[in-house]
Amino acid sequence: MVNIGKKYDIPQHFFWLHGPIAKPPVEYDEKTEMWNVYGYREAMEIFGDPETYSSNTLRVTPKELLPDEGVSFDGFLTQVDPPDHSKLRKLVSSAFTRKVVADLEPRIAEITCEFLDQARERDRFELVSDLAYPLPITVIAELLGVPSSDRGLFKAWADELFKSDSTITRKASEKQQAQAQDRMRTWHEMSAYLGSHADERRRRPRADLLTRLVEAEVDGERLPDDQVVNFGILLLLAGHITTTVLLGNTVLCLDAYPDEQRRARADRSTIPDVIEESLRLLTPFAMMARSTTREVKLSGHKIGADELVLVWLAAANRDPLQFPDPELFVPGREHNPHLAFGRGIHFCLGAPLARLEGRIAIDLLLDRFDDLRVEPGSSVELIPTPTVTGVKRLHLA
Ligand code: HEM
Repeated sequence: MVNIGKKYDIPQHFFWLHGPIAKPPVEYDEKTEMWNVYGYREAMEIFGDPETYSSNTLRVTPKELLPDEGVSFDGFLTQVDPPDHSKLRKLVSSAFTRKVVADLEPRIAEITCEFLDQARERDRFELVSDLAYPLPITVIAELLGVPSSDRGLFKAWADELFKSDSTITRKASEKQQAQAQDRMRTWHEMSAYLGSHADERRRRPRADLLTRLVEAEVDGERLPDDQVVNFGILLLLAGHITTTVLLGNTVLCLDAYPDEQRRARADRSTIPDVIEESLRLLTPFAMMARSTTREVKLSGHKIGADELVLVWLAAANRDPLQFPDPELFVPGREHNPHLAFGRGIHFCLGAPLARLEGRIAIDLLLDRFDDLRVEPGSSVELIPTPTVTGVKRLHLA
């Protein structure tokens, strides 16, 4: 068995990468004053009850970390609860359909080949900067209809938003308050940028997702302007960082398990299984937060109202009660109902796009590299954010 944490010298706080998880399914942390959920069954219980476990964590966030007056998070789907959630989701789903995604296949392959060709001219291939970062951001920018040449700007925004300590907290330190100010500045910049593009689409519609969003209607109602902008921001952020991470993690799995790489190379129809197992073993968003709206019992614990509950997807995806041999990378395992894309009403809207990009990119990487291998002697660096599992840099041999 390969211990990914040990093999790549990964810091201990990514506890899920270091062998069997020695934690109870549910536990209260006195220090952070938050609940942690590590069990699969318990995570499913939470995702299945959005009325008790609200996605709106801002309602229990210290007010020093809350946005300034005048900043709206309306339409930021991951924070919206029922009944508004279902209406909003229906509206945006009508613009972001499976067909819209499936039609992207040839363009995704073309963009992947362009980045791989450009990388050929360099001495060393660094997976993240040469492919895993630029590919998804280019795809989502083209899909939305904003210039992909602005991707330096998008990266600067994402880096700013993700550099800070967790926003999911009961107590705001001075450092977190300063970071909240920086985040708000970034948010204003993103809103202004997407707002001007959305205005432009109202005047001059085009064949892009932003136009579909400004025109989408459910029961004769259109999305208010701030909601179009906030959904655009969500897509721009969610649409690239996670898929970047998925590509890097999948190559890491194929490096750690050369037999699986040989199998995937020989039979490319198994690549979707490789992607699913990579999502389970190296879950990109390791944690999702919820806030309780009432007192509730979970796995014998009484959790009060207005508590913060951190659901560790990365741990639930390695729960031995759900996955036999959870530490092993077994593409095509008989049953793989992993939680990497969440579950229930907030199930990831971009999952078909992420899966498609993953399949195409891994297929083309296997074509271009006789042996997809981490460069001997180079270190594997993870993104430092403690709630994300993902390689930051990966030099390939
Ligand atoms: C929701 C993970 C790619 C758009 C989610 C959630 C997870 C997730 C765990 C659930 C959030 C919650 O329950 O609070 C991932 C992973 C990805 C990925 C691991 C790639 C490997 C994408 C892409 C897009 C996207 C490519 C868009 C282009 C969204 C949206 C939601 C969402 C809009 C909100 C759905 C809702 O609240 O109803 N994602 N995501 N994601 N994701 Fe993704």
